[in-house]
Amino acid sequence: MKFQPTAGRGAIRIAFVTGSLGRFDGKVLSVPFGETKPLSRRKFVLLMRKVVATAKQNHLKSLVIDYKDIRALAPKSMGDYEVGRIAGTAFVMADYEHVVYKTKPKEGWNFVEMMGITNTPEVGKEGFWHGSIIGEEVNACRELSNTPGGDMTPKILAAAAKKALKGTRAKVKVLGVKEMQKLGMGAVLGVGKGAKDEPQFIIVEYKGGGKAPPVVLIGKGVTFDTGGIQVKPGEHMYEMHMDMSGGAAVIHTLALAAKLKIKTNVVGLIPAVENAVGAGAVRPGDMLKSLSGRTIEILHTDAEGRVILADAITYAKRYNPAIVADAATLTGAALTALGLQASAYMTNREDMIDAVQGLGEESGDYVWPLPLWEEYDDMVKGHFGDVPNISTSGNSRNGGVIAGGKFLEVFAKDLDCPWLHFDIAPRMTSAPGEHLARGAAGAPVRLFLALIEKYAHPDKN
Ligand code: BES
Ligand code: MN
Ligand code: ZN
Repeated sequence: MKFQPTAGRGAIRIAFVTGSLGRFDGKVLSVPFGETKPLSRRKFVLLMRKVVATAKQNHLKSLVIDYKDIRALAPKSMGDYEVGRIAGTAFVMADYEHVVYKTKPKEGWNFVEMMGITNTPEVGKEGFWHGSIIGEEVNACRELSNTPGGDMTPKILAAAAKKALKGTRAKVKVLGVKEMQKLGMGAVLGVGKGAKDEPQFIIVEYKGGGKAPPVVLIGKGVTFDTGGIQVKPGEHMYEMHMDMSGGAAVIHTLALAAKLKIKTNVVGLIPAVENAVGAGAVRPGDMLKSLSGRTIEILHTDAEGRVILADAITYAKRYNPAIVADAATLTGAALTALGLQASAYMTNREDMIDAVQGLGEESGDYVWPLPLWEEYDDMVKGHFGDVPNISTSGNSRNGGVIAGGKFLEVFAKDLDCPWLHFDIAPRMTSAPGEHLARGAAGAPVRLFLALIEKYAHPDKN
């Protein structure tokens, strides 16, 4: 979908009127919302998406909206740049659907192909332009996540990273099994042992900030999670091709940083493996020697995400980072706790909790905090190894989200910087009512971008 500040004649004008939902009379599409007064940030995003969703329901290919109508509905606190950026992102995200495995209908796909915004001030145009770039990368992330496990191996994910960064200033390096063996990444290798397709370690480096210490983003890249030999019960396995959503988000956040020419350094690390059932697969009781030197005691083969992330966190240390943030579809417990509405997050810096939550609100990737108090330390005491991959404190089901965070915290202790862990299992798929297509939701690309923008200090280089 392209944005043109002034659209051609004959396009349909969207009129905001008061009344009942979405009618199309042939000339004017009505997307009513009640009274003409500024909405909350969250409601504004939803209404902007609803414009496109309603246009799609009415099979419109192009539409024109007057910027004044958009401005009137945006929160007062937003400037014109932000109004454009938020609305632009919302329009593009609402247009996306995963259709590559469907046969194209005779009348073509049902996408809005052109949107014109009239009477837009100059800064607003820049906002729409940036917003559409952001929306495109979020959608590209969703497309990767939506790809079935049979068509998404670690090597295919690595190729997708190269493709996403092609033509930008960012560099992509991929470590194969031999290189990982040389480095001692026993955690990634151990989880990958059961699969026919070999694990890969994907590294993306974007330099936009001279010698400044980088923001390091880590994403879980499990291309399919069967649970390993402690195989998941049937209905729990269905959407596990999306278990590389964190990795996809990191890839496309790096693409965004490069395309928006963000003035800071960003590194993306994606351990990519399939957690498969196979003769070589890791067993409960097995010990894996992690890159940090600590042994990981596998007590459950389905708690594989934290294991591969451990090596990535240790690898991050070599960049002397300003901050490290990871995103992972880590626990079903996060989904149980928060439903589909927000990712859970944890940090080694309690003084950052409010700021991170604020970035979640601003970006639209909503997050809610959980503690990593030392009272939980018993969860990560190994029986025979250094760190167990599920809680060894009482019932291992208690505090499942926190147990995942506590495991990662052990490895993050080697870092000399703030570390943030986002358990994005709740936001792996879209929620009903948010006017996004069924399937991957694209979290937390927008939040990661906000984080990078916050930590971009070009003048301090
Ligand atoms: N990828 C899953 C978590 C998940 C479940 C994400 C549902 C999205 C939706 C993860 O690898 C997993 O299997 N976690 C286990 C951990 C347990 C064995 C401690 C879980 O949540 O059951
Ligand atoms: Mn699992
Ligand atoms: Zn998993």
